Amino acid sequence: MNTLAKKKIAIIGGSSGMGLGLAKSAAKLGAKIIIGGRNPEKLNAALAEIGENSSGVPIDTSDEKSVKEFFESCGDIDHLATPGSSVRTDSFKNTSVEDLQYSISNKFIGQALCAKHARLAQDGSIVFFSGILAQRPGTSSLLGAINAAVECMAKGLAAELSPIRVNVVSPGMTAGTEAYKGMDEEARNAMFEAFKEKLPTRSVGLPDDMAQAAIFLMTSPFVTGHILNVDGGGLLV
Ligand SMILES: NC(=O)c1ccc[n+]([C@@H]2O[C@H](COP(=O)([O-])OP(=O)(O)OC[C@H]3O[C@@H](n4cnc5c(N)ncnc54)[C@H](OP(=O)(O)O)[C@@H]3O)[C@@H](O)[C@H]2O)c1
Repeated sequence: MNTLAKKKIAIIGGSSGMGLGLAKSAAKLGAKIIIGGRNPEKLNAALAEIGENSSGVPIDTSDEKSVKEFFESCGDIDHLATPGSSVRTDSFKNTSVEDLQYSISNKFIGQALCAKHARLAQDGSIVFFSGILAQRPGTSSLLGAINAAVECMAKGLAAELSPIRVNVVSPGMTAGTEAYKGMDEEARNAMFEAFKEKLPTRSVGLPDDMAQAAIFLMTSPFVTGHILNVDGGGLLV
């Protein structure tokens, strides 16, 4: 297994949730961390948590110019992780074309642009983020399709960008992120409790669970084109 000590890792979306969890864990392993996100204040607050050997650069992955500038300022890097995205979800019939384009631009094209412009070492890797909806869309057809596109892109890029490795973390329901900040606290806690009852692990995910999975993918030299489901067994129930 490779080590992350002294490796340079760009984490898009490193200012909250899974990205911040990954930044903190990788920094503890001796990596040099560059986090990206749209809001500079959030970046600064996150840097205070991550500690030394970390820096932050604003980026909006829905804007190719911003993505290019971010990676120019990074220079050469060893690993790229892209948990940073925001989506606008509603039922299929109620989703406007504008909201669908926003979500595709943020979650799919954004990760593609990062992979395109990152200057990665040949023994480095990319870790994309999809989600359980890729395989279990339920009533989230559009978001499921966007997640599935991310996974398909990763498999193609594992061949196209070789020897750079390209893998995906596919999270299940995860607490401790900003994903459900629009819900009131009681409803959010009730949703997490309901998932805990249902999932084989009797728990919901935490940012640390996703960090552990991303670090496994970065440090495993014989793993590429892999979709790692980190979902508490959610695909089984
Ligand atoms: N939480 C879950 O239960 C869950 C389940 C399945 C899949 N996922 C997926 O896992 C990934 C991480 O989710 P999370 O819940 O940890 O997210 P989160 O807490 O909402 O954090 C998102 C991060 O991405 C940044 N970001 C958002 N849009 C961006 C953009 N266009 N350009 C650059 N940065 C952007 C945010 O900062 P700014 O707002 O400052 O830009 C923030 O740092 C996402 O792909 C999500 O869809 C999450």
